Amino acid sequence: MADKVFLVIGAGAGIGGHAADRFAQGGYHTVLARRSDEGGLQQLVDRIEHAGGAASGTLLNAAEDGTIETLIERVERDIGPIECALYNLGAQIGNRGLADTPHRTFELGWRLGCFGLFRLAQAVTPHMIERGHGTLLVTSATAAVRGNAGQHSHAAAMGGRRMLCQTLNAELAPKGVHVAHIVVDGSVDAPDTLGKLLGDEFEAYKSAKGEDGVVDPGALAETYWHLAHQPRNCWTHEIDVRPFTDVPWWNDNPNPQIDTGKR
Ligand SMILES: NC(=O)c1ccc[n+]([C@@H]2O[C@H](COP(=O)([O-])OP(=O)(O)OC[C@H]3O[C@@H](n4cnc5c(N)ncnc54)[C@H](OP(=O)(O)O)[C@@H]3O)[C@@H](O)[C@H]2O)c1
Repeated sequence: MADKVFLVIGAGAGIGGHAADRFAQGGYHTVLARRSDEGGLQQLVDRIEHAGGAASGTLLNAAEDGTIETLIERVERDIGPIECALYNLGAQIGNRGLADTPHRTFELGWRLGCFGLFRLAQAVTPHMIERGHGTLLVTSATAAVRGNAGQHSHAAAMGGRRMLCQTLNAELAPKGVHVAHIVVDGSVDAPDTLGKLLGDEFEAYKSAKGEDGVVDPGALAETYWHLAHQPRNCWTHEIDVRPFTDVPWWNDNPNPQIDTGKR
């Protein structure tokens, strides 16, 4: 059995895979779960093992009831105690107007963005509470803090995710479980998500953003590592990150040196 496990729900080649690398490097057995890409999953597991770490991979559809719960039971029984879990599923479907957002799409966004985290928390945190410690990291997005045109499903799901993190913290922090909501307020070099959404435009998009113009998931993984290892007398419950060239979500002036008059 491993001493400690890092579990990633939603492990692609971007944030999920790089966070797994970082925790494996720090001595965790890493369990990576993703929906459909078996070859991509194996590549991530191989990369960790070649670097001297320990990893296992599994395919699951986190939107289906019972999948996350069964995985957690299996990991706790067969691999080791889940010291840190990362909920890394997005719920982005691109821009869609109200009339073009079917009920099933809205509901799927909620299942991925919000309900899946609720299910993860319900399944994993009793183990953490029993041990008196554990961390739940939650990757989030600008849509968690700001609604926008075409983002009905995404923003509703991510806003719910943020509030869920706050309620989880209120209940779990006094029991020793740290929940951190990480607002990624910018594009990520993530070929399996943004890359697929943009298709052939992805490389041109990154070039247009310039050097360090998109979030490097390897750099972000250092933040995740830090959050999960903060002493409990100085926990962060919410943090935001973006490339240096991006304007933060609360600021509508792209160049703060110039007063556009826009308010
Ligand atoms: N990428 C960005 O530009 C960006 C920007 C802001 C915030 N974020 C946030 O970052 C997180 C995602 O990180 P990332 O973009 O770097 O992606 P990533 O870690 O490279 O990949 C995420 C993986 O989630 C898996 N997934 C999707 N639906 C699933 C389901 N129903 N069940 C199980 N796995 C599922 C996909 O697996 P398969 O490929 O196998 O289907 C995908 O590869 C999300 O919380 C998102 O809101 C991303």
